[in-house]
Amino acid sequence: MNPHREIVIAGNWKMNTTPEEGVALAKSLIESLRRTPGVTVVICPPATHLGVIGGQLKSSSAELGAQNVHWEKSGAYTGEISAEMLLEVGCRWAIIGHSERRLYFGETDQTVNKRAHRALEAGLRPIVCIGETLAERESGQTFDTLRRQVQVGLEGLTLTGKGGLVIAYEPVWAIGTGRTATPEQAQEAHHFIRDLLAEQFSPQIAELTVIQYGGSVTAANAEELLTCPDVDGALVGGASLKIDSFLAIVQAAS
Ligand code: PGA
Repeated sequence: MNPHREIVIAGNWKMNTTPEEGVALAKSLIESLRRTPGVTVVICPPATHLGVIGGQLKSSSAELGAQNVHWEKSGAYTGEISAEMLLEVGCRWAIIGHSERRLYFGETDQTVNKRAHRALEAGLRPIVCIGETLAERESGQTFDTLRRQVQVGLEGLTLTGKGGLVIAYEPVWAIGTGRTATPEQAQEAHHFIRDLLAEQFSPQIAELTVIQYGGSVTAANAEELLTCPDVDGALVGGASLKIDSFLAIVQAAS
């Protein structure tokens, strides 16, 4: 963490909780969050919950995010959601290019780029996910992969640094596996990504852009990861579904 940068802790609920369970989870979060300032907290429930949780969050400091957003405003795109729809139910954020979208649903750096353009244009803050697979890490291709994902995924975007796009570095081998990157591995990748942003945009944008770590973040390892100078928050999957562990991660960040 760096005192000049925003800290963002986001919970990615993935395809978990029914609407009723989600409302209960959001309710306990809202009640407890009043005591945890200094961190931007975002929850990204499944699409079916967004309207009702958006209403709940009006009385909270936590913000609402979606797990995807399409690059067109409307049209014949069965199964997709537009930025306009998300904004109307209170979303301020959208996760884009999560590795599960890349792996199971054909998401590419090019579609990530289109989605990110649209999100920014519409006024949603994108959380663009990047990260290498285990095979890429083991064959020494981690930095090539990150370079490609940043170069293509963020191509042509107008970044503001503060209050805008967030990058989530999520090594694929660490997602849902219980195998977290060491603080050294996370810091090395985050520093590299910040250098890429400086090259592609400007040193100032690089300095202000939030880079979250994601991949098996828990209450037990959050603090050591968040202590790394270039780690500005976390994208939390499994541990965001339990109120105690998610709050402990928020607490570690504040
Ligand atoms: P995990 O998921 O915390 O369950 O590893 C993180 C993510 O996929 O964003």
